[in-house]
Amino acid sequence: AKENTAVFTFFGASGDLAKRKLYPSLFKLYQKGYLKDRFAIIGTSRAEWTDEQFEQIVAESISGIKEEAKDQASEFVSHFYYIAHDVTDKAHYAALDELITKLDEQYNVGGNRLFYLSMAPNFFGQIALNLKSEGLITEEGYNRLVIEKPFGRDYKSAKQLNEELTSTFEEDQIYRIDHYLGKEMIQNIEALRFGNTIIESMWNNRYIDNVQITLSEKLGVEDRASYYDTSGALRDMVQNHILQIVSQLAMEQPVAFTDADVRVEKVKALRSLRVYTPSEAAGNFVRGQYDAGDTGNQYREESGVPADSNTETFVAGKLLFDNYRWSGVPFYIRTGKKLADKFTRIDVVFKKPLIDIFAFPQKSDAALQANVLTIYVEPKSGFALKVNAKSTGQGFETEPVNLDFFQDADKEKEVPEPYERLLHDALEGNSTNFASWSEVAYAWKFVDVIRKLWDIEDPNFPNYLPGSMGPVASDELLQRDHWAWVYKL
Ligand code: BG6
Repeated sequence: AKENTAVFTFFGASGDLAKRKLYPSLFKLYQKGYLKDRFAIIGTSRAEWTDEQFEQIVAESISGIKEEAKDQASEFVSHFYYIAHDVTDKAHYAALDELITKLDEQYNVGGNRLFYLSMAPNFFGQIALNLKSEGLITEEGYNRLVIEKPFGRDYKSAKQLNEELTSTFEEDQIYRIDHYLGKEMIQNIEALRFGNTIIESMWNNRYIDNVQITLSEKLGVEDRASYYDTSGALRDMVQNHILQIVSQLAMEQPVAFTDADVRVEKVKALRSLRVYTPSEAAGNFVRGQYDAGDTGNQYREESGVPADSNTETFVAGKLLFDNYRWSGVPFYIRTGKKLADKFTRIDVVFKKPLIDIFAFPQKSDAALQANVLTIYVEPKSGFALKVNAKSTGQGFETEPVNLDFFQDADKEKEVPEPYERLLHDALEGNSTNFASWSEVAYAWKFVDVIRKLWDIEDPNFPNYLPGSMGPVASDELLQRDHWAWVYKL
């Protein structure tokens, strides 16, 4: 493995994400040699901790990884430092700069600075501005900003945030995290499409009937109500994860598999996504909120949620592209909390043969089914292709069979966590799997119309039961087009 050198500064070092994902992922990079000797990690937050207290927190966060990695763990943890920091107080940046400079020398880092924002988003812009005005952006190595979601709460606020960030950082120094892009099977979409003639040659409106994307969650809002209730499923999952997946499925073939080439195509795809009028949005999008059930309260009774909350915990929608490849092919999407199970899958439904010769001259029980390519993203990783085959035996009946591939369990265990992969990419300066500003901007423009409509109309909540696949209206959305969700209970 190639050793990377950097001083990381984490804003939001005491946060849940840092403890659950970031420190363990950095430790994995360390175990694999991507980080070795020449790195230091500074944690900041408002809490007054000592280095030792911070190291203790980091040690705990990686304690589950491996018993036999104990020595490595204490080595690793010794690279962590802490400084209390009020992001609004300019004077605090000088102290931070001093520490970065000192650690840079101590670990022979070569001037590479990586700033990671994982805290309340209302401070993102200010931190970026202060990093510049207080002289923390240096000429020596690289300066990179890694930024967690949410990136704004509509197009307008996202644009303002972006302007604040770009007054300090260039677009190619900004790494906007969308952890779905760090998932193995989401990255596999590109391999599957652009590595296979039989797939890519049929990947268009001549052969594809519709595409279905499901991000289903079993848990409810848990302890995140203060964030979630101001967000809702549309902002939390559709604007980012789902539209990123959609753009990878819909984009044209990039010239080469480089970040710049992939971005160009994703932006083009998102540009040709039809932005609805309010009345089209009303016809093509469905929202839901979970009711009480065996597994707990209704959403409105969850702690921290107002009793009259109209925040949606479920979204289903139909997306259309106005371009040559996809004209007329609906992309159906859905996501929600407290659904039947935790999984992510993509079902690509092909057109049926135009003529069913086996049913000729008109058999009422025509058996040919549509070919469906399913990409299993999580929890299992794999593909399946449903094809029609002859049923064994006398006579001539057909029946669908599955050609499938699933990653074996041992390999599955080696798959890097999204954060491990994305942190590594940021260290390497590879932004293929981060969202560019233009992608974020088009995604917000699409989402804003729906959001505005929902903000003025009262929903009839709650409208779905925990353990279901969402409200009835989600099924009706497809029935209207004479179709149905491939995955159903
Ligand atoms: C996050 C959302 O971005 O993605 C959460 O804020 C959601 O609400 C999560 O639960 C789902 O991610 P994953 O990787 O568990 O499917």
